[in-house]
Amino acid sequence: PATNNAVAQKIPVNYDESKVPPYTLPDVLTTKSGQRITNRKQWESHRPELIRLFSEHVYGKMPTQPVKVRYQTTSVDENALGGKAIRKQISVFFTEYPQLPPMNILLYVPKGTTQRAPVFVSMNFQGNHSVSTDPGIALATRWLPNLGEGKVVNHQATEAARGMQDRRWPVPMILARGYALATVYYGDVEPDHPEGWKTGIRSVLSSPAGPDSWGAIGAWAWGMSRMLDYLETDPSVNAKKTVLLGHSRIGKAALWAGALDLRFAAVIANESGEGGAAVARRWYGETIEHLNAQFPHWFCPQYRTYDNNPNALPVDQHQLLALIAPRPLYVASAVEDQWADPIGQFLGAKATEPVYQLYGRPGLEVSDHPAANQPVGKTIRYHMRTGVHDVTNYDWEQYLKFADEQVK
Ligand code: GCU
Repeated sequence: PATNNAVAQKIPVNYDESKVPPYTLPDVLTTKSGQRITNRKQWESHRPELIRLFSEHVYGKMPTQPVKVRYQTTSVDENALGGKAIRKQISVFFTEYPQLPPMNILLYVPKGTTQRAPVFVSMNFQGNHSVSTDPGIALATRWLPNLGEGKVVNHQATEAARGMQDRRWPVPMILARGYALATVYYGDVEPDHPEGWKTGIRSVLSSPAGPDSWGAIGAWAWGMSRMLDYLETDPSVNAKKTVLLGHSRIGKAALWAGALDLRFAAVIANESGEGGAAVARRWYGETIEHLNAQFPHWFCPQYRTYDNNPNALPVDQHQLLALIAPRPLYVASAVEDQWADPIGQFLGAKATEPVYQLYGRPGLEVSDHPAANQPVGKTIRYHMRTGVHDVTNYDWEQYLKFADEQVK
């Protein structure tokens, strides 16, 4: 089942294309007051309105105050991964809030390159130690989901948890292509459960509790920008060439972070689904109601008012994707991940094209959803891979090619 949550399971799911009711997406080039956008300047003055609408109705308001940080490099290995990489681990301390544990960055930089490496920036689900069997990675000490058949015990990592997600992180392939990889366990910013905020950044940086108070997705997005703040200080990487990549719930957060923070050079949302790249007005697979039932801590309280009425949302997700423009954007789905609505994600990406056109950037260049394993597009790209909800080498091959063409 797409959800094992008892409440969410009672909510009807539609997987029948012929039962999708008709809907109309808000026009991407029309402002809230009905003004038509015809040039870049008008689009750029419309951006704050969209960000405000996504803050008030979807993700909640982001804190705007700067935070003081201290970077502590806890380890450097000049000869990691059989001599192919420099591995650094950096703890980001939020010094005004000593009660908060640090956010720990794991950074691999390819060896033997003379230039600063372009860098993939991405959060992971199960701790930095889950990304690779590299024994030098510090085990996460924060609350972890009890996944992996005894590898995580009482929400704490064991030695056996090393590399348990390495299938999703082809680090040698990324390095061989000349890219660095920076990753953080998302639970360092906020553990992913309804009480998780109490030990995360939202416990200290909260917008006043109200319908637009930020949720965990906002917190993770905030953390992505803090990763970038650090990368800007590290001479081994090129922080102007960052590719922000997120899978699933982290894909939702990556889109929000990329929309808010123009320093990210490109954004990839892998199977981000509802609340990510999939348009909410299309009744197919997961709905806003499912999201709020299963993950009450992810979005702002106001988002719940759209549970049964996505048409009342003043925005839809294509407008979030459009906030990435004119930067390269990759939206990806999978055949057996109907929960995330591949067609809804394609339509979200498709509907951003008029904005990219304002910048003279080519979009998906097709009007119909492509067959499986047929990436389409240029600056905006899309594919639907065969297989299940996951991040595979196939996905990474496409992302590396995309980064080579669009960012490197
Ligand atoms: C659940 C959730 C999705 C989410 C996914 C994930 O399936 O319903 O919205 O994207 O988890 O993060 O893997």
